[in-house]
Amino acid sequence: MSAEEPASAREGRAQVRRMLLIGVIVSAIGIAVALAIDWFPTQASVQGEKIDTLWDVLLIASVPIFVLVETVVVYSAIKFRMRPGEELKDGPPIHGNTRLEIIWTAIPAMLLVGLCTYAYVTLTDIEKAPAAQSLPVRVVGEQFTWTFFYKGQDGKDVSSHQLYVPENTPIDFTVESKDVIHDFWVPAFRVKIDAVPGIDTHLRVTTKGAPGAYPVVCAELCGLGHSTMRQTAHVVSKADFDAQLRKLASGAAPAGGGGGGGGATTDAKALFTSDAPPTPCKSCHTLADAGATGTVGPNLDEVVPKLTEADIRSSIQTPNAKITPGYQANIMPDFGQSLSKEQIDALVKYLKEVAGK
Ligand code: CUA
Repeated sequence: MSAEEPASAREGRAQVRRMLLIGVIVSAIGIAVALAIDWFPTQASVQGEKIDTLWDVLLIASVPIFVLVETVVVYSAIKFRMRPGEELKDGPPIHGNTRLEIIWTAIPAMLLVGLCTYAYVTLTDIEKAPAAQSLPVRVVGEQFTWTFFYKGQDGKDVSSHQLYVPENTPIDFTVESKDVIHDFWVPAFRVKIDAVPGIDTHLRVTTKGAPGAYPVVCAELCGLGHSTMRQTAHVVSKADFDAQLRKLASGAAPAGGGGGGGGATTDAKALFTSDAPPTPCKSCHTLADAGATGTVGPNLDEVVPKLTEADIRSSIQTPNAKITPGYQANIMPDFGQSLSKEQIDALVKYLKEVAGK
């Protein structure tokens, strides 16, 4: 700095130093706040650890840039704003500054290349086949439910409406759809993949060593019942997983066995409110007796009293044969295949008894 340097230039440098100082302080606060925020639900997969670390690195890299730009904008708006009487004045003309241009091109370019490389390496790592033998699970999406298929001990397919996976195990999900595009997502695992009709898609997850229950969500708008397409992923110990597979293979009834006499009503109510049938009745229908408040399908307290037993039965078995005015076809699945005759009988009897009461 020479003695002849004009006062305005010295003042300019001081302004820049002040802006940088404010920028550094606010960046440090910004990073601390961003890292302290709990952005995601509980993390239950090894892939999730890598994704969460990537997220933290992205925060650390982007917060200072945001803060720097905002500091210059806010500082300039306050410091260099037009005061009364200056309306016709214009600032001194600014010509190119090669050094500045090189810096503001090179730094963002290096940051972008670095972050893209890191993200690419993380993605490759997540999708890499695990060394250990992984457990194959087939996931089938349909309006509006997921079904999970496993190979049972005797080699036969075993299906479940809730997802069960053993802890500390690499899982190889093969995902398909029976109708439209869905998206298989367990937020706790962080990763997700589309279920596309006609093709198989794949998703790899290595569970961690903490048993727990996490939501399974459909992350692709797939029709009126999209929001009800939610089930549960149970991460369980290996022994519990084997026991669960045996239970599923032996065809344990999802909602209690069949009691005689008046027991039918209790069973049907349990069936109505359970998560077990392909899709739970309670997610789409309102029925006061069962405490159900779904609004996707007709309110059973209103429609059932007007129906005969035969109508109720066909509405459960083949709901699309006759649609209540004001509702759309192909939303409710045919329960004729997924429920036994006894279960449907019990449901018809139960609905006739309690609807509208
Ligand atoms: Cu299936 Cu949204």
